[in-house]
Amino acid sequence: MSSSVRIPDGFVEELKARIRPSDVIGRKVKLTKKGKEWVGLSPFTNEKTPSFYVNDQKRIFKDFSSGMGGDVISFVMETERLTFMEAVEKLAEEAGMQLPKASPEAAEEYDHRKRLQAACEAAAAFFEERLMSSDGAAARTYLEGRGLRPAAWKRHRLGYAPDDWRKTIEHLKSGGFTIEELLEAGLARESDKGGEPYDAFRGRLMFPVADIRGGVIAFGGRGLTPDAKPKYLNSGDTPLFHKSRVLYRYKAAREALGGGEGGGLIVCEGYMDAIALTEAGFGTAVAPLGTALTEDQLSLIWKAGPEPTLCFDGDRAGLGAAYRAIDRALPHVEPGRSLFFVLLPDGMDPDDLIRARGPGAMADALDKKIALSELLWMRERDAEPVDTPERQAGLEARLMAAAGQIRHAGVRGAYERDLRAKMRDHFWQLRQANRSNDYRKRPGTGHSPASGDHGQVELKGGAPAKLRGLGAIVRAVDTPALLDIGAETLALSAFADPDVSLIRDALLDLAHAGNPIDRKGLCAHLAEAGNMRAASLLKEYPETPQIAVDGPEAREWLIALEQYMVAGRSGEQEVDAGIDDAGMDATSSPSAWRRKHQLVAERRALKARMNEAAGKVGES
Ligand code: UTP
Ligand code: MN
Repeated sequence: MSSSVRIPDGFVEELKARIRPSDVIGRKVKLTKKGKEWVGLSPFTNEKTPSFYVNDQKRIFKDFSSGMGGDVISFVMETERLTFMEAVEKLAEEAGMQLPKASPEAAEEYDHRKRLQAACEAAAAFFEERLMSSDGAAARTYLEGRGLRPAAWKRHRLGYAPDDWRKTIEHLKSGGFTIEELLEAGLARESDKGGEPYDAFRGRLMFPVADIRGGVIAFGGRGLTPDAKPKYLNSGDTPLFHKSRVLYRYKAAREALGGGEGGGLIVCEGYMDAIALTEAGFGTAVAPLGTALTEDQLSLIWKAGPEPTLCFDGDRAGLGAAYRAIDRALPHVEPGRSLFFVLLPDGMDPDDLIRARGPGAMADALDKKIALSELLWMRERDAEPVDTPERQAGLEARLMAAAGQIRHAGVRGAYERDLRAKMRDHFWQLRQANRSNDYRKRPGTGHSPASGDHGQVELKGGAPAKLRGLGAIVRAVDTPALLDIGAETLALSAFADPDVSLIRDALLDLAHAGNPIDRKGLCAHLAEAGNMRAASLLKEYPETPQIAVDGPEAREWLIALEQYMVAGRSGEQEVDAGIDDAGMDATSSPSAWRRKHQLVAERRALKARMNEAAGKVGES
């Protein structure tokens, strides 16, 4: 709409001169007169004492709590999230100023579209009224059955199109619209048998679709019975409405989002989802109209906020749609402008989820949103197995091709680095997983592949092999922060020497009790309990250097320790993990290690459940 209108020189000045800022601003902010100015509570912050000023003489506002300020146009742009053009158009309309048209044809078109829009508006009002009438009984029951109350029907202007061939047409014609206008607005349909045009929507629950300024331009109509074909009938494209350029609830959602720092809209798949989200307190929800997201829609979404969240049903189709959205978005990502994804659990859509588990479950799902780069990685990683060098190279090629779509050079480079790192982590993890499988397959030789023939060699740090594990425990004693990442693994590890196990137990006891950990104290603790050998083993073990808990040594430590845990849980013979020089890999990285740690915790939980099921708790 804006495109057919050009703002001439002087128009904006004239507009500003005609509008008194306190009139427009006073509709959003409660203002009280204070001397020559008006003052109120900032609409941009949560301030308690008013520091928001409007000066009608200077025609400006100034907000001391947010630092924002400007004229009435920028106020409307900020609070209603409109572009400059949109704000000018809106204010001009209010001020009764004719926006000049670019040409006579454009002027005509402009007026024509206004007519069509008026027809849509009249239809929306008619459908709303019908919903509340006797015609709408079944639709009301349907809405109640879906958990929506009359207040929500009003908020979303839901309506009912009577189950009749001409009722809507007759009503709108009596309102002064011609049949040509109704046909063009998508409200009536030409009969192919050459008969009279008939109502486009019959016996359907009606969802009015608004343009960016809130004017009704189209409808979606849902059949009330499961066998309705189609389930949702949408207006065809009209001069007002191009399905691929419109989002359901866009204006309302954009207002709900406000001018907040960062964040963005929630994009879901359907009308009912957007409504359910709004009613559950997520008023920033929008939906495309039954098609995959288009570039036009993406740009609308980004106009509202830089980091929107796309929410897809947790089924195959939803995942596919999410994957397709990646390709749409990639060329356009920029610093601070991206997408997040949420895939809902158990094949549910937002409406299902909220109804079944409440708004809290939806909030949790939204909290678990995945970054675009992460979903891209998952998509390519899962496209095919990466069990051969050829396939690994294929993965890398796909990842780099995807990153290559990004136009912004800086972001492209960042993606390339990030994706390569993810890939290395992944290969590293696969190798680690293969190693632990090897342990389990080996029938009780007491030697792991990593230790080979070196089962009896002295371990770094000086512990004889029969005290295997002591070095790892001592490291945690000397660098207690390691317990943050390794306490669980340590607790589940099995050590051959009972005194090594005792030291571990004492260490964990101290840690759990919240006591500071140092070697002296631990020795004393052990000695007090009569564990003299354990105390002296600990005391005599050479000092280990402090290590950074997020560095590569800590990683090595955890991986080495995990070998004891694997051994312990295999329930077979103790496995020499070749501790300290256990299979570290040049491709390892902190994130791989963190993930590894997570896997360990997950496996532990699984094991605990299995033990519980088998009634073997505490056996270990
Ligand atoms: P869904 O089939 O996922 O339905 O369509 P839904 O949103 O969960 O609807 P309910 O909960 O069964 O009422 C998602 C969206 O796809 C479009 C609509 O915009 C719908 O909201 N759609 C669906 C159509 O346009 N036509 C159809 O026949 C079906
Ligand atoms: Mn649904």
